[in-house]
This record gives sequence, C-alpha cells and structure tokens, in this order.
Amino acid sequence: ETVYLNGDWLPAEAAKVSVFDRGFLFADGIYEVVTVYAGQLFLLDRHLQRLNRSLSALGIANRSDSEWQQLFEQAIQKNAIADGFIYLQVTRGADTKRSHLPATMLTPTVFISATHIQLPTELPEPVRVCVMDDIRWLRCDIKSISLLGNILLKQQAVAMGGMEPLLHRAGRVTEGASCNYFIVKNGRLITPPKDELILPGITRDWLVELARDNGIEVHEEAFDLDALYAADECFLTSSSREIQPVGWLDEHMVADGRPGAMTRQLADLFRANAP
Ligand code: PDD
Repeated sequence: ETVYLNGDWLPAEAAKVSVFDRGFLFADGIYEVVTVYAGQLFLLDRHLQRLNRSLSALGIANRSDSEWQQLFEQAIQKNAIADGFIYLQVTRGADTKRSHLPATMLTPTVFISATHIQLPTELPEPVRVCVMDDIRWLRCDIKSISLLGNILLKQQAVAMGGMEPLLHRAGRVTEGASCNYFIVKNGRLITPPKDELILPGITRDWLVELARDNGIEVHEEAFDLDALYAADECFLTSSSREIQPVGWLDEHMVADGRPGAMTRQLADLFRANAP
C-alpha cells in the first residue's frame, strides 16, 4: 500500500508522524472518506465542500480543489484501486510540545490512503441496529477525527448484537456512529435536518436530491422514538454502505423485517445514478 504523507508517496509502514502531532495528542484534526467507483471519485465536489467546512471550523488553511483531486487520483493510480475509497486526514500539525493552545504557525499534517473494498452490488439484507443515547459532543457537523464517542457506541451496539447504533438525544433521533438514518411512514420519507447534531452525510444529501428529482417528497424534519418505532421502513446511508435496510430496532421488527417499497425504489435510483 502506497500512502501520501506531507508531500511524499511511500509504503504505508514507512509513513511516520511525530508524537507531538496534534492529531495524535488531541485528535486535533479532520478527515474525509470519498468512495471510488471503477477508478472514479464519486461526488468529489461535495466531499471537497465538506472538507472546506471542516477545515475552516478548525481554522486550518485549505488547498485548492484541483490539488486535492490530483492527490486523490494519484493515490488511486498508485494503488490500482477500482472500487474502494480514499481516506484523507488533515491535522493541525506537529507542535514542539503538548499544549492545549496550538502554536500559531503550524504546518498541517496531510495523510492520504486509497483502499480497495467490495461495494454493494445489490440491496443488502436488513440489519439490526441498537437504539442508544447519543453521548457525543454538540458539533457532530464537523468531520472530526475525535471519534471516541462514536467508537464506544459502535462497540456497545456490536456487543448487543447490532450492526450499528441508532442514536437519539432525549428521544430525538440523530444519526449512527458512521451513518445517517431515514424512515418512511405512510409513504412519507423523513430524515433528520442538517444541524450541529449530525454529520451532513454526502450520501444522505445525494439521496435527498435524487428522490426530489424523481418526484419523491423528502421531509428533513426532526422525529422522535415514537415515530421511529411506528415507521413502515427504516434504512441507513453512508459512502461505503450506500443504502442499508434496517430490519430490527433492538427487538422491535420494522414492519415485516423486509426492505420496503420506498427503500427498494431509492436503492434502484441510487444504482441507476452511481457510476
Ligand atoms: N462515516 N454520520 C457519521 C457520524 C459518519 O461518520 C458518516 C460517514 C456519515 C455518512 O456520511 P457520508 O454519506 O458522507 O459517508 C454520517 C465515514 C464513511 C467513516 O467514518 O468512515
């Protein structure tokens, strides 16, 4: 595996970062994951827009879109990736000592890898998710590498026999540890609004637009656990999982546990419009 680190391309095991890197000491950094279909970067512009949002939230200088695109394309070529994803991480950089207040003139640490994965070719079987209290911070809109909350929740969900947590704050549904959620009730497609409590998922946004372009109304509105348990359909979205039907909320079966009509229609739309 060939990775990019601060201007160099080198074998992954040779890529080394300072112990004073603020990413290592404080998780002071952000990341992006871009799906690659048949060697092509999928929805790159949207990922670069979100990257820009994350970097400016941290006050880290950005590079030009074309520079990122070139680096991502090089990563794809050097690793001969057909289907997979690009991982980009930018931290505030290596300080000379551990200090909460960052030195002002740090050079950001930039790391890029390209990994092969098997992308779904058809709608996957429904999974079980675990409804859990969202214990994370209040700026989940930033794609921060500080993911301890997400990791603890994911571990607990898997330990309870689920594939993913479905998080809520005081009964209001937010998102998963690494995905967004949609529900369908009486033909209404609903997903939580974009605010500081969720990551603005690229797959979520893409699906919302696809649905609207095809005459399906989408309601970006908050819903609670009562609405969740009453849903006719439920599915999650993320770059790597696309659309994943949810069959069980803990012990509660969603309708008959099979992917519903709207879920299948949206998955077909997704397939027809993906590269
Ligand atoms: N996770 N919500 C959270 C908290 C996420 O971490 C992610 C993505 C999403 C879905 O966003 P998108 O559709 O842009 O992939 C929602 C990535 C894939 C990850 O952490 O690996």
